[in-house]
Amino acid sequence: MKIALIGNGAIAKLVTQFCAARSTKYNVLAALGLPSDTISVGAHPIVRSLPDLLALQPDLVVECAGHSAVKSYGAATLRAGINLMIVSTGSLADQALWDEISMAADTSTAKLKLPAGALPGVDALAAGKLAGIDRVELKSSKPPKAWSGTPAEKTHDLTKIMEPTVIFSGTARQAALAFPKNANVAATAALAGIGFEKTKVTLIADPGVTQNVHRLEADGAFGSLRLEIFANPSPDNPKTSHMAALSIMRLLDHEASAIVI
Ligand SMILES: NC(=O)c1ccc[n+]([C@@H]2O[C@H](COP(=O)([O-])OP(=O)(O)OC[C@H]3O[C@@H](n4cnc5c(N)ncnc54)[C@H](O)[C@@H]3O)[C@@H](O)[C@H]2O)c1
Repeated sequence: MKIALIGNGAIAKLVTQFCAARSTKYNVLAALGLPSDTISVGAHPIVRSLPDLLALQPDLVVECAGHSAVKSYGAATLRAGINLMIVSTGSLADQALWDEISMAADTSTAKLKLPAGALPGVDALAAGKLAGIDRVELKSSKPPKAWSGTPAEKTHDLTKIMEPTVIFSGTARQAALAFPKNANVAATAALAGIGFEKTKVTLIADPGVTQNVHRLEADGAFGSLRLEIFANPSPDNPKTSHMAALSIMRLLDHEASAIVI
């Protein structure tokens, strides 16, 4: 499978290593990066425009860059008929962008693929939805310093937090839009389950945790779901859970394997 990446950071590096170790199955052709991306995370070259990336005729483009990249390149990739995987799922809380991207997927031969990222239980949410889900709630706890550079800095002195403190409570849409680098999981829960307005999200600064902790609750006709993940950070980016890259690898495996689970 010929893969093109958008992004040249922590996730791109892990996905590249995964592909290099399975070179009979996967070939990373190139990565589209920012001008600051001067040294490639793999043996592949960095290109500077989407036309240059698509000219290499990938089977699949994997976005692992950020919300701005989804906005700039998502719909155009699908309109070109090329399958797209988006890990920055929080970008899809922007209704206009979602409309553009879902329309591009619907009207082309390409498929949009959304990995679970750091969220546990996506399979159960998506299956449970088929019978009807009444309630989905996600509580995400991170160490206080992980919320630096977010709106939490305006409402709290993160250096003085001594006990678990709620820094946001609202819908998945509000969370994903206000915390673009920290609430992709909220968007993934919404997309797999009952949508951006009905999915309730609480974000917590907790000095007692060293990992990113996500607690997912859902109730519906299928029964009840209670899941908790203590996600280790990515080796090269403490803000990104290692699971984000692993979930991309799992979907790549789905594409290339005869037996899928
Ligand atoms: N779904 C999830 O659970 C989940 C979890 C973690 C991260 N993420 C998403 O994955 C993204 C990447 O994570 P990372 O740890 O690899 O980040 P990173 O900062 O290590 O790397 C990001 C890379 O993308 C490049 N980039 C940024 N904007 C770009 C643009 N507009 N066009 C081209 N390249 C661009 C950067 O230059 C960099 O090379 C995050 O921004 C986040 O949105 C999702």
